[in-house]
Amino acid sequence: MVLYKIKARDLDKIPFALGYADVRLISSKQAQILPNEIDLTTNLTKNITMKIPFISAAMDTVTESEMAIKMALMGGIGVIHKNLSPEKQAEEIAKVKRFRSGVITNPITVSPEFPIEEVIRIKKTLGFKSIPVTEDGKPTGKLIGAISDNDYSEKKHANLKVRDRMSPLEKLLVASHMISLEEAEDLLLENKMRKLLLVDENGYLRGMVTKTDIEKGEEYPNATLDKFERLRVGAAIGGPGQDLEVRVPKIVEAGVDVIFIDTSQGFSAGVERTIDYIKRNYDFVDIVAGNIDNSEAVKFLIEKEVHAIKVGIGPGTICTTTDVTGAGVPQLTAVYDCVRIGEKFEMPVIADGGIVSPGQLVFPLAVGASSIMSGKLFAGTDECPGAIKEIVDRKGVGHSVKEYRGMGSLEAMLKGSKSRYFQEGMKLEDLVVQGKEVVVPYIGPVAKQIRKLVNDLKFSLAIHCGVRALRDLRNGDAEFAILPRPAYSKEDLFLFERKE
Ligand code: XMP
Repeated sequence: MVLYKIKARDLDKIPFALGYADVRLISSKQAQILPNEIDLTTNLTKNITMKIPFISAAMDTVTESEMAIKMALMGGIGVIHKNLSPEKQAEEIAKVKRFRSGVITNPITVSPEFPIEEVIRIKKTLGFKSIPVTEDGKPTGKLIGAISDNDYSEKKHANLKVRDRMSPLEKLLVASHMISLEEAEDLLLENKMRKLLLVDENGYLRGMVTKTDIEKGEEYPNATLDKFERLRVGAAIGGPGQDLEVRVPKIVEAGVDVIFIDTSQGFSAGVERTIDYIKRNYDFVDIVAGNIDNSEAVKFLIEKEVHAIKVGIGPGTICTTTDVTGAGVPQLTAVYDCVRIGEKFEMPVIADGGIVSPGQLVFPLAVGASSIMSGKLFAGTDECPGAIKEIVDRKGVGHSVKEYRGMGSLEAMLKGSKSRYFQEGMKLEDLVVQGKEVVVPYIGPVAKQIRKLVNDLKFSLAIHCGVRALRDLRNGDAEFAILPRPAYSKEDLFLFERKE
């Protein structure tokens, strides 16, 4: 049999639609370049560039501030999910915007009334020997002192309160939160101290710098930054739900860089009204709208002058939209179709969902996507909300896992994501569930995972696609072999599916 091959740019020449599982890359001549020299710079939106083409999904088991901070530090971006009250979502955004490398912006704190017994417990479980004391015990409260293991004896003082043994403010090294990291380092050295507490003009705690962290000297040359050198962050809102006019002002005030209008059907009057509302009131914030899967929908969003479009109806690993509604163009063809229209208007296309292994990252990029949103690839990392659990499978083998669930699953919809699926106000028994709840292996820090994905993608580009930069891949020269049948089905993906 002759190999059936097709150039990425010619996908419209075949009479059927393809998903990622239907193709493999055909290696072309290797580029005379090392994989680590490949440039992955791309556009997230018309106004925002990123050094790596990765976005962590707006899902409540994937992206809150911890994930968004790491994604932006590494050169991508995270989108804070919307199963949070408007206030809490704004707070998560603010945490990302306040973050400065080397500064702990959300330290563990205690109140003066806290028992020393508990301070000892924190030291033993989390390893923190010195803890700031604030009036109300909150990390953003007024700083009144600190308690370290030099201040108490575990044997003698366990029954006392923090106020009985803490070091008062006068004994601490305190500075304005506006100082630079270099200045903080000098202060620590001059004063021969290991901890510097940062406060605002009214004495409220804004962060902490430790000598240990400075010595670690982590650097993030690829970080996605705004014009004030703060990390960038996205946030999801649903369709035109009841809280649109409450949520949007709050997240804008918190400093969100890009609003993702995140629905399961972006070709809709609801999305149109939401775009109009944001444009009318906050025309300085970028808008990504979706999800869509065909060229007519792209034209609709181009007319609405959004800043990027998000493609993906049904491909998500935890998605059951296609099973339930029959909708969803297979994702490779959907991305291709949307790019063909979008590129004439320099409209970045985000390929959302459906990537099950690093090797598939290259597929949507080869047909012109600017970036990739994924939940699956980042799920199970430390930075995902939720605890690590230990479970035993049917064969009696133990696994460390974290939960990963679709925003259209019953549990997630009950937490607030009904509007993504146009089901706000529906009764429990009438909800049309469109997502699964699963558990995935715990895989450690997300930075390690991102580094792996970046390296795998660079290798694919340099060694198998023969290009020097992601922008060169988009010329459509990459070639696909089409497989006679999909290499896997969604049913094979998760070992532990919690519920249907
Ligand atoms: P992956 O493949 O990374 O997909 O697991 C993540 C993307 O899937 C979308 N999403 C859903 N789609 N039902 C759906 O039909 C759901 O419950 C659901 N939850 C998330 C979303 O676009 C996400 O980025």
